Amino acid sequence: MTKHNLALTLAAILLFLVSNVKAEDGSRLWLRYDTTQAERIILKIDSTMPADDGYRIEGNVVTARTPQGLLYGKYAALRGEQGESHPYYALRILNHWDNLDGSIERGYAGESIFWGLHPDVTLHSSIIKRYAEACASIGINGTVLNNVNASPKMLTSPYINKVKQIASLLRPWGIRVYISVNFGSPKALGETTTADPLDPKVRRWWQRKAKEIYAQIPDFGGFLVKANSEGQPGPFDYGRSHADGANMLADALKPYGGIVMWRSFVYGARHKGEDRVMQAVSEFANLDGQFRDNVILQSKNGPLDFQPREPYAPIFDQMKHTRQMAELQITQEYLGQGDHLVFLAPMWKEFFSFVSPSRLDGIAGVANIGLDRNWCGHHFAQANWYAFGRLAWNPSLSSRKIAEEWLEQTFSLTLSPSPIGEGSEALLSMMLRSREACVDYMMPLGLHHIFKFDHHMGPEPDGYKASYPIEWCPVYYHQADSLGIGFNRSTQGGTGATRQYREPYSTIYDNPATCPETYLLWFHHLPWTYRTLNGRTLWEELQYRYQRGVSEVENFVITWQQAKPYIDEQRWQEVDRKLHKQLADAREWRDVCLGYFGKMAKQ
Ligand code: GCU
Repeated sequence: MTKHNLALTLAAILLFLVSNVKAEDGSRLWLRYDTTQAERIILKIDSTMPADDGYRIEGNVVTARTPQGLLYGKYAALRGEQGESHPYYALRILNHWDNLDGSIERGYAGESIFWGLHPDVTLHSSIIKRYAEACASIGINGTVLNNVNASPKMLTSPYINKVKQIASLLRPWGIRVYISVNFGSPKALGETTTADPLDPKVRRWWQRKAKEIYAQIPDFGGFLVKANSEGQPGPFDYGRSHADGANMLADALKPYGGIVMWRSFVYGARHKGEDRVMQAVSEFANLDGQFRDNVILQSKNGPLDFQPREPYAPIFDQMKHTRQMAELQITQEYLGQGDHLVFLAPMWKEFFSFVSPSRLDGIAGVANIGLDRNWCGHHFAQANWYAFGRLAWNPSLSSRKIAEEWLEQTFSLTLSPSPIGEGSEALLSMMLRSREACVDYMMPLGLHHIFKFDHHMGPEPDGYKASYPIEWCPVYYHQADSLGIGFNRSTQGGTGATRQYREPYSTIYDNPATCPETYLLWFHHLPWTYRTLNGRTLWEELQYRYQRGVSEVENFVITWQQAKPYIDEQRWQEVDRKLHKQLADAREWRDVCLGYFGKMAKQ
């Protein structure tokens, strides 16, 4: 190689490196802080502070009782916080629905950052470390590494060894690992003849397994379990209760300080004919008080399944002597997946307005993270990961504050004149309105689960398959006919689901006149001519709301166009493409749903 060629090659490499450092591909998330600013931060331990991982920030001095608190304080200082802050929950946990083959159930951002490679192969270590930093920067302190539909293989030694390796990458960032376990594991692995939780051999198997795990990972967090739900094995297979099953696992983990997060997302064959949204309470309420103190019942925020809007799940009212956690879904399975801009903080805040944060021991969030360059598929989906962490730390933060923080950190290098000045006010407003827009263009007025089968992207209000359980079919949920529309869950000729709520909600929801319009068709079947609050008929109101949702997305497209001068080219283009897809999808929702319902309304 001549000197000249060498110089050219070096120049090309340099250019490549510089352009990569500057590449605005979203891979840096909200962690775009200035490293010199980070170096100026002084950190001090103060053992007189409250016994948690909180921090105090005065100028550039961060004080905390624990090293973990200092770490949290550092990131808080970098985002401009001052004063004292303490974590509301001790358990702030991401749930990855990652399969061992690398695919992700309901994942829209590429393959798993943890799995997919043969267990002997080196991990994506640098990615896992960056993931850990991002989680720690917003206070997340635990992660469940695999899908709730868990493979028994997870509990074999090659995979336990892999968990150990992942744990060692996450530990410096204060993140504990947990795994989802398949309740039938000992039997499925051929090591016992049954998985009956009261069988001494089965109990011993789990005890040995816990011992084996803790010998490798002394700070292992515990198990997450989906049992007797959607085909998963569980204690019912042996005539035992959820408490029998959960307590067996809890006893195995207890000597090491581990916990069991037992999910209440159960429905199906055992409740033939019962309204699906009532089944969790039917199955768990009579077990209240029977769970060990290291069992936490983990329930989705709504009683059905992560819809764009649901009333809160009444199980949170019913379990008075059982520890509980809420499970929120960060990945947007039912909210436009990787394509729609929907900021979820307002939805989660709505949940907290019904279920006091103090009723809960922790928060779990179903992660939206994969190997995509920008981690989450959609640049704005990063805001949901961010919002989850911030709300798990402090559920009283406002959606606006969280969006503001995220926008400022994520686009601060490119927004002008000031990070949160006029230019970004419109972006902020777009984020805050986006969830309501999604409800409007997908399923306003309390409609729910009218998605296309299986993949849940797009509308299918006429969906019915005789071979499917009825509670998977859209027609079951909207119950539309020539007389009206909606699911009667009142005590007046309906399923009586309203009875599962505490007062005053039980009474309020039971009567269409007092039921909030946002939940109207969730709780009531009403004639097409029913008058809504503003005087329109139900049919007119449906048309109005679907159109309002579409118009909002049209506004988002314009807002983004106006934001162009402030946003770097690559991210601007990528978001713009997604917004156009979102608009096309919103129009499809409106047209398909109004077309279908219109045929009945106009009869
Ligand atoms: C939904 C989702 C499934 C998931 C299940 C669960 O039904 O579509 O993919 O396994 O919830 O939360 O267990």
